Amino acid sequence: MNYRRKIIAGNWKMHKTASESKNLVQDILSELKDWNEGDVVLCVPFTSLQTAGALLESQTVVELGAQNLHQAPQGAFTGEISAGMLRDLFVRYVIIGHSERRQYFGETNALINQKIKTALTSTLKPILCYGETLQERESNLWKSVLESQIKESLAGFTEAEMETVILAYEPVWAIGTGKTASPDQAQEAHAFSRTILTQLFGKAVADKTRIQYGGSVKPENAQELLQQQDIDGALVGGASLEARSFASLVKKGCQALA
Ligand code: 13P
Repeated sequence: MNYRRKIIAGNWKMHKTASESKNLVQDILSELKDWNEGDVVLCVPFTSLQTAGALLESQTVVELGAQNLHQAPQGAFTGEISAGMLRDLFVRYVIIGHSERRQYFGETNALINQKIKTALTSTLKPILCYGETLQERESNLWKSVLESQIKESLAGFTEAEMETVILAYEPVWAIGTGKTASPDQAQEAHAFSRTILTQLFGKAVADKTRIQYGGSVKPENAQELLQQQDIDGALVGGASLEARSFASLVKKGCQALA
């Protein structure tokens, strides 16, 4: 049995206006009233951060997250959002390097490395996403892809900095497709990721680092996935957009003993 506290984050992606977010946050809070068996984070769109933050400020069950940031502290970067702007809205976590950002916005491991550095400098907890495509899995390249994503994204960080970094293994072929990695497939990728962390930072850091699984996680499969020894939580897209399903997923996932 491992001692890592489970962490479940909803990634709302580009869904929900600020007023819709208000209702969804309120509904999630009432479903999860007094919940304390794991960390719960809502990564809402930028435009919903203020509304969500105001609702989350007075309680400790659910924390606030963003989905991206710019690597520079400030400057002439039209349309971008800085770490300081997020901190000012009581954001605690930030997703970095999601496969959709890699695929549609050309984010590289080197850029992701800079963004993680910026997040850490601003005391935001980064959730580093990585994972292979279907083609990479089918041609048995997944291990080398994961290894280079993890090594390049985390190059240069100290053991102390790693204390606040969370990893999220999200096989691209399982995102939004309804095709979940089997618990065995996910566990194998998580255990492999932990061996890479051991090479980089030593066993003590690797044993402490939480690794979420993401890709078609639902209330029905959360428990089986999160029971795996090296799966410490979930990063949830579609199933986080409805309060009851998200709350049920959180309860099942956090209660799974790994
Ligand atoms: P789905 O849960 O909709 O597959 O999305 C996963 C994801 O990309 C979370 O970041």
